[in-house]
Amino acid sequence: MEFKETVNNRHSVRDFKNQSISQKTLTEIIKLAQKSPSWVNSQPWKAYVAMGDTLNEIKNEYVKRASEKGNPDFPVMHRKDWSLAAQENMQQWRHDIVHHFPNFDEAHEKMSSASIHLFNSPAIIFLTIPKNSSSWSIFDVGSFAQTIMLAATDKGLATIPNYTSVKFPEVIRQRMNLPDDETLVVGISIGYPTDTTINTFQSKREPINDVLKFKD
Ligand SMILES: Cc1cc2nc3c(=O)[nH]c(=O)nc-3n(C[C@H](O)[C@H](O)[C@H](O)COP(=O)(O)O)c2cc1C
Repeated sequence: MEFKETVNNRHSVRDFKNQSISQKTLTEIIKLAQKSPSWVNSQPWKAYVAMGDTLNEIKNEYVKRASEKGNPDFPVMHRKDWSLAAQENMQQWRHDIVHHFPNFDEAHEKMSSASIHLFNSPAIIFLTIPKNSSSWSIFDVGSFAQTIMLAATDKGLATIPNYTSVKFPEVIRQRMNLPDDETLVVGISIGYPTDTTINTFQSKREPINDVLKFKD
């Protein structure tokens, strides 16, 4: 796939086929993502892949706790505390995704169900950084995550980075045997996309002139 096509094809998919991915393919993806830049090549990231019975156990626990408030390692900031520009983009996204469905109830039902069932993906890649990390490591693990998602797209796979799968970190810690000195950053659900409505949504981007400024 051409680079531009790979970047344009990547988008968040919220429903996956019941089709497993080989450990070989996942290893190739993570190996490529290891080429990501990091502060003094510190490579603070680790990737833990949940599949098969382990992932089913995680999904069952998450379904049981669906009505509980999450307590992720990275706290979630209330939407009113974000910058106004970010709040507007988030509102626009909510409006657009709801209007992608025939009506509000269906949008709500499909989005909630996808989230509760961890998007039905056959694998989730959990990313961690050490607890004693510099803030710069968040930048580094972000680069690592984006390269994982692009490498997956290049192989015809789909992904969604998500908070949903890390909202109960104690469950992931226990099931994945995460070391105590690592912070759970994000989960990347990965697999082959179904052709359901939820997956045909394409989020918008701000006009380039609002993002890019030149000065001679
Ligand atoms: C750190 C992070 C956490 C996210 N968590 C969720 C989530 O819990 N549920 C969800 O539906 N989407 C989640 N997303 C996906 C975003 O909604 C999505 O990336 C954004 O709307 C842009 O759309 P795109 O990925 O299709 O380009 C998350 C994205 C990021 C980067």
